[in-house]
Amino acid sequence: MSRNIADVKNTFIEIFGIEPEVFRAPGRINIIGEHTDYNDGFVLPAAIDLAVYVFIQKSGSDRSKLISVDLDESYSFSIDESLTPVGQGWVNYFLGVIDQLQQAGHELEGFNLMFTSDIPIGSGLSSSAALECGFGEALIDLFGIGVEKMELAKIGQSAEHKFAGVKCGIMDQFASCMGRDGHVVKLDCKSLEYEYYPVDFKAYDLVLFDSNVKHNLADSQYNIRRNQCEEGVQILQQFNAAIKSLRDATLEDLAHAKSSIDEVVFRRSKYVIEENTRVEEVCEALLAGEIEKVGQIMLETHNGLSKDYEVSCSELDLLIEIAMSCDGFIGGRMMGGGFGGCTINLIRKEQVDDVIEQVVSSYKKSTGIDAKVYRVAIGDGVGRHK
Ligand code: GLA
Repeated sequence: MSRNIADVKNTFIEIFGIEPEVFRAPGRINIIGEHTDYNDGFVLPAAIDLAVYVFIQKSGSDRSKLISVDLDESYSFSIDESLTPVGQGWVNYFLGVIDQLQQAGHELEGFNLMFTSDIPIGSGLSSSAALECGFGEALIDLFGIGVEKMELAKIGQSAEHKFAGVKCGIMDQFASCMGRDGHVVKLDCKSLEYEYYPVDFKAYDLVLFDSNVKHNLADSQYNIRRNQCEEGVQILQQFNAAIKSLRDATLEDLAHAKSSIDEVVFRRSKYVIEENTRVEEVCEALLAGEIEKVGQIMLETHNGLSKDYEVSCSELDLLIEIAMSCDGFIGGRMMGGGFGGCTINLIRKEQVDDVIEQVVSSYKKSTGIDAKVYRVAIGDGVGRHK
């Protein structure tokens, strides 16, 4: 992790004169089910061993102070102020969570907080969701608020909508809250029912390649995709009133409505409908131990995200293209919202080192950029740091 826990704890004691409580909230990967969450569909994420660490204690007054150890920045405010988004980006995740808890009628007092994170920012590993969930859990514990983990995930999601302006789905906060060591979780984003699948990739390892780019159209394009999906639903509804979201639609429904749908909206809708089916297929393949099939399906997802949903970018496409030319690679795809960040890949264990070397060197040759490589382990969701 970026800073040693004991060091931050000591600094906290030096600054605030009291020992902090420490909480940890993980980032996430997603095996399959991309851009399906806000369409009431299925996702298959897992919490990882990279996390945000929150150090907190009551201040004994209405004043609160937030300190970002990694950025060496701080922000002070009164818990009784009416909160609105501020210029310092990271502060908004905190203000958003406080605002949501207060809106839900929970009473908060002043606190002092420090945090540090080893989740790379802008890599599609959900560092912001981890911040929201880690901070929310810290407040819930510190002030004895009765909020369940699923509720916390929703609070994090609303904080992101209102204070960061990204109309995200529930997947990232859900994974950070509900992840379980050694398991992926299939979530039905409509009913919020979920099921843990023990994860065993057999002869293969999961490897993430970070393109090390984040194009700044990511947030605006994300919200545009959401609107396009809603537009698709509105038209499909005219043909079948039972369709409330793309989750309810089939490819037949879409074919039926084709002449009434804008070409772009058609492709967006097609991708989402197909992706929901792929989540089911991957779950079956995982249970059957058919890991090569999982890899194949991930490649289909990449293709859909790149061509139909158009949230990939040349760097992510290149990472997949290079990996496909390597022996031992059985599948992969861009992961998360898109326009940069990581690809998630399945690579035969014995060939992992060779594939990493080839991908990193070819990527550098073509783009001049150093790709980063993460070999994450699957861990538990948010909680007190042990
Ligand atoms: C981001 C959002 C998630 C999800 C993914 C795409 O990570 O925060 O809610 O929509 O993009 O699957």
